[in-house]
Amino acid sequence: MSEEKIYDVPADVVRRAHIDNGKYLEMYERSVKDPDGFWAEQARAFVTWSKPWSQVSNWSYDAKNLHIKWFEGGKLNVSWNCLDRHLEKRGNQTAILWEGDDPREDKKITYRELHAEVCKLANVLKRRGVKKGDRVCIYMPMIPEAAAAMLACARIGAVHSVVFGGFSPESLKDRILDSDCRVVITADEGVRGARKVPLKANTDDALTHCPNVHTVIVVRRTGDKIAWDARRDVWYHEQMAQSSADCAPEEMDAEDPLFILYTSGSTGKPKGVLHTTGGYLVYAAITHKLIFDYHDGDIYWCTADVGWVTGHTYIVYGPLCNGAITLMFEGVPTYPNASRFWEVIDKHKVNIFYTAPTAIRALMREGEAPVKRTSRQSLKLLGTVGEPINPEAWEWYYHVVGDARVPIVDTWWQTETGGILITPLPGATRLKPGSATRPFFGVMPAIMDDKGKLLEGECSGNLVITRPWPGQMRTVYGDHQRFVDTYFRTYPGMYFTGDGARRDKDGYYWITGRVDDVLNVSGHRLGTAEVESALVLHPTVAEAAVVGCPHAIKGQGIYCYVTLKVGVESSEALRKELVQQVRKEIGPMATPDAIQWAPGLPKTRSGKIMRRILRKIAANELDNLGDTTTLADPSVVDDLIRNRVRS
Ligand code: WT7
Repeated sequence: MSEEKIYDVPADVVRRAHIDNGKYLEMYERSVKDPDGFWAEQARAFVTWSKPWSQVSNWSYDAKNLHIKWFEGGKLNVSWNCLDRHLEKRGNQTAILWEGDDPREDKKITYRELHAEVCKLANVLKRRGVKKGDRVCIYMPMIPEAAAAMLACARIGAVHSVVFGGFSPESLKDRILDSDCRVVITADEGVRGARKVPLKANTDDALTHCPNVHTVIVVRRTGDKIAWDARRDVWYHEQMAQSSADCAPEEMDAEDPLFILYTSGSTGKPKGVLHTTGGYLVYAAITHKLIFDYHDGDIYWCTADVGWVTGHTYIVYGPLCNGAITLMFEGVPTYPNASRFWEVIDKHKVNIFYTAPTAIRALMREGEAPVKRTSRQSLKLLGTVGEPINPEAWEWYYHVVGDARVPIVDTWWQTETGGILITPLPGATRLKPGSATRPFFGVMPAIMDDKGKLLEGECSGNLVITRPWPGQMRTVYGDHQRFVDTYFRTYPGMYFTGDGARRDKDGYYWITGRVDDVLNVSGHRLGTAEVESALVLHPTVAEAAVVGCPHAIKGQGIYCYVTLKVGVESSEALRKELVQQVRKEIGPMATPDAIQWAPGLPKTRSGKIMRRILRKIAANELDNLGDTTTLADPSVVDDLIRNRVRS
């Protein structure tokens, strides 16, 4: 770390930015010394309320009395803030700029058009009996109707639960049942990289186990033949044609739920992260404007899927609340070729581009030519999110994609945090490749050691946040105890992120990745326990242990140790079957990278699997396996090392 690279903020960037370094320091100071005063001001600046709040914040991080409330008593409607209030000034401005999977397909939807679409769909939902507080599942491709569906729920106070279109029927079923969704909005098929995704068929599969679902609203995307259940299924376009574009927004309390989004933890099934209305919207809007330095008229593109929190906050809610032009992309970075991202940037004159390190690494492998044959002159800012970005990928993004001309914001956050917590501000922060740099306004990070001691100055340990911010999740849907236990037990009185971090001499944060049993595979979050459960469902498997291993493109790969039942022979065919089993249970993003046959797993005498050793073997770090003397049978380690799978 002796010769650390630092990139200064270019003068022209400082000049046009909302926030320069002086302002950052001054506002940050204010935001942590007088959080309620600071957030009251921001809540008034970014959101229009139909009734003011009575208390800015009301919270306790004490496990015995845990609660987090912002803007209590305040009333608002998210869809009204994202649509109606913009109509006068920017009714004819593009709200969603849609780029199809096929480069010949695109369309622009104005705020007025989106408003009408959302109102009609809200009326469709009402007609199907959906009421305030009901949960609606959205299982959609990246088409504007997905955003309309989210906003239509928000309009009538229904709680949406978006399930990423890459999830399997099994995963979809679990999520529908957990939150008891009675209505599903989907499409006949999705299209990605010229390949079709059978969304309706997956929904049909999932629903054989969901008797409470009475309505499936189906968008016609490809027009291919699909199965139809006339008692349950309705076409989106037919319902819309019979629907009025007049729908008064439901007045919501700041703390009414806005959405549930399932995410993986280190144990058990995915949990339903619950976000509420007022604080979430304020936080989405302020972070979108200040971190991406959004100015009126900028073309802003976040490449995430709306199935992830990044899509919720930085494709839909943040940008639309700010009256922005948000580009929504249906396709993949490498179709029809590896220039696609940069071609779309040129085609639509994109100013702000936000993507994931895994995409950058995949494109980096294709060399500079696919980038260099495009202009990219419209770019003013680049962003990354989802996993630690290695300095090589950062430098490539900066020099090759950005022509060393535009800043990069490396934004650290989580599904739980609702919005970005640690990040540079483009006009304020000198950049260090690989560092998420400094906390956003109102965010107080700290680093703890394993024994529960707060570390000061330069240090590394576990990342916690010591006080709430408005975008923080409020509970785990249907399981408040799990919320308390997961995030507030490890370090009493603090929110534990599950990430490791280092703080350097300048107070910059370097996120080192998860310290729990959560994997980050191509920016997709998976619990090792979920993959293990999928493996042991197979009749031949006695036991399975899953760990992450380094992967050049995905960041982390999935490495599985499998013990077969006595008498079962391992084979290539069985390996393939197990891979298929995991894909079927969870989805293609959970495809194992390596399966190692393990006659025994390293266990302590009390039967606990020593994952530390399994991680080291998977990473091929064989010279420091650590203490193995506590193992019940140390010889299993030698076998595992001998039969390591090169992944
Ligand atoms: C985990 C959260 C938040 C949107 C996408 C992921 C990792 C996220 C960064 C970053 C290093 C990052 C963390 C975090 N992560 N952004 N800029 N640098 N790590 O949301 O699926 O909830 O995953 O992603 O490990 O805990 P998520």
